[in-house]
Amino acid sequence: MQIVNKQIQFEGVPAAVIAEKYGTPTYVYEEKRIRENFRRAVAAFTKHYPNFRMFYAIKCCNNLAVANILRQEGAGIDAASVNEILLAKAIGLGGEDVMFSGNFLSDDDIRQGLESGVIFNLDDASLLPRVLKFGKPELISFRINPGFGDSGIGEFVTNAGPKAKFGIHPEHVVAAYKAAKDAGIKRFGAHMMPGSCMTDPEYFARVTGMLMDIIGKTGRELGIEFEFVDLGGGLGIPYKEGDETLDIDKTAQRIAETFRTKVAEYGLKPPRLMMEPARYFVGDAGYIVGRVHAIKDSYQRIVGTDVGMNTLARPAMYGSYHHILVNGREDEARKPVGLCGQICENTDFWVKHRPLAEGIAVGDLVVVENAGAYGYTMSYQYNGRLRPAEVLVSEGKHYLVRERETFEDLVRNVHVPAHLAPKV
Ligand SMILES: Cc1ncc(COP(=O)(O)O)c(C=O)c1O
Repeated sequence: MQIVNKQIQFEGVPAAVIAEKYGTPTYVYEEKRIRENFRRAVAAFTKHYPNFRMFYAIKCCNNLAVANILRQEGAGIDAASVNEILLAKAIGLGGEDVMFSGNFLSDDDIRQGLESGVIFNLDDASLLPRVLKFGKPELISFRINPGFGDSGIGEFVTNAGPKAKFGIHPEHVVAAYKAAKDAGIKRFGAHMMPGSCMTDPEYFARVTGMLMDIIGKTGRELGIEFEFVDLGGGLGIPYKEGDETLDIDKTAQRIAETFRTKVAEYGLKPPRLMMEPARYFVGDAGYIVGRVHAIKDSYQRIVGTDVGMNTLARPAMYGSYHHILVNGREDEARKPVGLCGQICENTDFWVKHRPLAEGIAVGDLVVVENAGAYGYTMSYQYNGRLRPAEVLVSEGKHYLVRERETFEDLVRNVHVPAHLAPKV
């Protein structure tokens, strides 16, 4: 994103062109930035641990154009549901290029997950007999809760530790792999997802050490080898001025050092190291272009836009900060205002007091930053508001990569029994 002659541009495409052609609100993704983010991370990890593979947790932005960019760069896919496995297949990935890490799965999920032939990563040992009812996977992985996790998002996002619903308790890990071994499964991997949006390399080193202690003891006790260890995601990005920027090289270095030390300590055959971040690749490559539709002077000045909690759920869900720019006015003096969407909930009043350009007026375009991850995929239709369009920009060109919903999408799959239908 750049500002040229006061006009906000994405890879050379003005926000005004996006708004004119596709309407507002619209999600915009910058292809170049996605590629840069991915390459930077892979280069750092392979430098410090060459037997490394990067996956992309597609839950954060499941647009197939974005997923294809990451596939071209060499990413595998981390899928949280059977439908996300199907998304991976839609971009030509399957088998061991896809990791299925669902939780609290139904029998149907388990059967389809198994039949899909991707890596099955079980969230609990109790799933194993249910998997075995449908067939025996050649390779099994368990998601381990190492007993500790952390989050830059606040307490709303808890991926590991005693308060998390995810993963296997450290004391149950040996029994889980023993059950798999006893069932005749020969190939093993291990996984964790300890935290989100973290920027401290020492956090990554600490939690890697905790996981490797559990794996090391398990490997020793059962005489099994781990083909891979997946450390999950959690590579953070700055949202607010003053937020720490992740030192990716240092992070990869500290992870690799800890990993190697533990591999040696427990005499393990060195496993492939894997990670499955998401936010780090697409978070800062995505924006929302919205429009100011009304301004009210009440207990304070409130700027009403079409970017609401239905468009971007994170502020209402997590109290998250997203930086906002006003097109054409970024060099104006600032005045604190509130900003909201058009939803009948006060959590939609998602900016309470923010210095924005003082001349902000009806018709202006606003641009919301860092909206690429957990943006569109968390949007919804409350109040009959429709999901936005998604546009990819690349080298001065723009491509519609998902159409804006229409009224037909609101009533699709809805059936009214005959006795309730209006007489016409
Ligand atoms: C299992 C799993 N892996 C990876 C990720 C990606 O996390 P992040 O975007 O923090 O890198 C998530 C996010 O919730 C997840 O649940």
